Amino acid sequence: MSEAKATKGRNHGMTLTDHTTGKSYELPVLKGTLGPSVIDVRKLYGDTGHFTYDPGYTSTGSCESKITYIDGDNGILLYRGYPIQELAEHSDFLETCYLLLYGELPNAQTKAKFVNDITYHTMLHEQIHFFFRGFRRDSHPMAVMCGVVGALSAFYHDSTDISNPHHRMVASYRLIAKMPTIAAAAFKYTLGQPAVYPRNNLNYAENFIHMMFSNPCEEYKMSPVLAKAMDRILILHADHEQNASTSTVRMAGSSGANPFACIAAGIASLWGPAHGGANEAVITMLQQIGSKDKISEFVRRAKDPKDNFRLMGFGHRVYKNYDPRAKVMQQTCHEVLEELGVKDPLLDLAKELEHIALSDDYFVQRKLYPNVDFYSGIIFKAMGIPASMFTALFAVARTVGWVAQWIEMIEDPAQKIGRPRQLFTGEVERPYVPMQKRK
Ligand code: CMC
Repeated sequence: MSEAKATKGRNHGMTLTDHTTGKSYELPVLKGTLGPSVIDVRKLYGDTGHFTYDPGYTSTGSCESKITYIDGDNGILLYRGYPIQELAEHSDFLETCYLLLYGELPNAQTKAKFVNDITYHTMLHEQIHFFFRGFRRDSHPMAVMCGVVGALSAFYHDSTDISNPHHRMVASYRLIAKMPTIAAAAFKYTLGQPAVYPRNNLNYAENFIHMMFSNPCEEYKMSPVLAKAMDRILILHADHEQNASTSTVRMAGSSGANPFACIAAGIASLWGPAHGGANEAVITMLQQIGSKDKISEFVRRAKDPKDNFRLMGFGHRVYKNYDPRAKVMQQTCHEVLEELGVKDPLLDLAKELEHIALSDDYFVQRKLYPNVDFYSGIIFKAMGIPASMFTALFAVARTVGWVAQWIEMIEDPAQKIGRPRQLFTGEVERPYVPMQKRK
């Protein structure tokens, strides 16, 4: 509809006028509780014979959701209405999981039951440890996680009936509970050490740290500061509305695929450096920069349209202001480094890079601020976690967001199989050319 023009109509709709035919169409406008209204284009194709075109979905709402809200202009992130800073300060990860899944904070009794249920699902089917052995020892942990999580559907048949609410709940609990065990086992596998079994006397974050760093030969001494920092990092990454991996989970699940397969798809999407893989890429970039005097060279490259280098950990599709998670992360970073007595030159480098970028016109005009991944890698590095595990940690935290969004989708009466259309610009129909006539 090259000449079509959308004009704001009455407050309940918009009028779309096709100037080629002179016809007008009334499009309903739907209002949420927060954020911009959406134009309902579900009947657009049927009424006009036109699709919308929106690569990267920059203007498209793909679903209705009640879970997470982001106000990117003002740097606000709410889980079920609660600001992320308040949850990071006062809540803990499993309470946040309950909130994301059920919509309300639990009372003491429901919280105790939830924590117990998750804790008693952390062990893996023993056969899964043999499955690990099929991977090369130098596999990337995310490659192992894609494979192992996808394979859970071959181990837990009793929770793959997506039309059964009890199956959905059991599968969700299993995924949240077992993800740290899988991630830690993937790490141990690359080290050539035995996988460490979960311990029910530890909380979620402590258990994860214990499974990553203890070994059967000696007692492991847990640092409460590190455990608290890990818990906070998990909260910060728990959900982020319709990002690439969550949309991938929803898309995979829209066909009726089982939850283990859907979450494996989410892990694959998260792995990319434009998404969860950025935390690993930030450390690689800071190491490449090496010293403060080289920062300007890398900033120049990031601004050069002919160079595809980007400042990793900077910019966000939705945040056009400081990512609120990055603020909490920066503070946590200081606490962790102080507790460990670590003086990491990469932190000074990161702060200087942030300072230079935030006062540079290119970044200011495009509203490119540090995102959650900018400081997280420095914390993980100080904790002794190798860069290849950073995105795996993100996957552990995001699992609850993925399953909460997956359940919401399955239970949404408006849910349909995800099936976008296209603007076709390829060859028009033509007859088959026999081999002897081809050039
Ligand atoms: N460094 C330099 N320039 C950038 C950057 C960057 N990190 N990010 C965006 N730009 C420029 C981009 O070149 C474009 O400039 P122009 O208008 O002149 O063409 C403009 O800013 C808008 O960028 P875009 O690519 O259209 O924005 P997007 O919304 O499609 O991409 C993004 C968002 C996060 C993929 C991108 O900012 C990026 O690649 N950042 C680096 C990777 C990163 O840190 N990712 C983690 C995101 S937060 C964690 C998560 O959600 O997983």
